[in-house]
Amino acid sequence: MPLIELARLADGVFAEVEATLDGDAESLLLYRDGEAVRAWLNICPHAGRRLDWAPGQFLKSKDGLLVCAAHGASFELQGGQCVAGPCRGEALRAVAVTVRDGAVWLG
Ligand code: FES
Repeated sequence: MPLIELARLADGVFAEVEATLDGDAESLLLYRDGEAVRAWLNICPHAGRRLDWAPGQFLKSKDGLLVCAAHGASFELQGGQCVAGPCRGEALRAVAVTVRDGAVWLG
């Protein structure tokens, strides 16, 4: 089962999907950048809260950073590094995904 059809992910927009990783149900944040898709656990390294303010509703700053809805930590969208806010220098946990047959898959 794919995580999501690529056509449902607009370029530069976030999405949230549920996936089973190592037997645990996890919420993932997906971000489409052209034909590439990156994925991270939907867990902020600051206090372990979800990054979205409602399921799938993520904040993006004017300068293109993901902003945690809890306390405003800001993350760049190449490596998921926190570049401003209370967990500056830490990073989101990346999840390996691939784009194949018009869909996004784990692995
Ligand atoms: S939990 Fe994300 S900034 Fe505090």
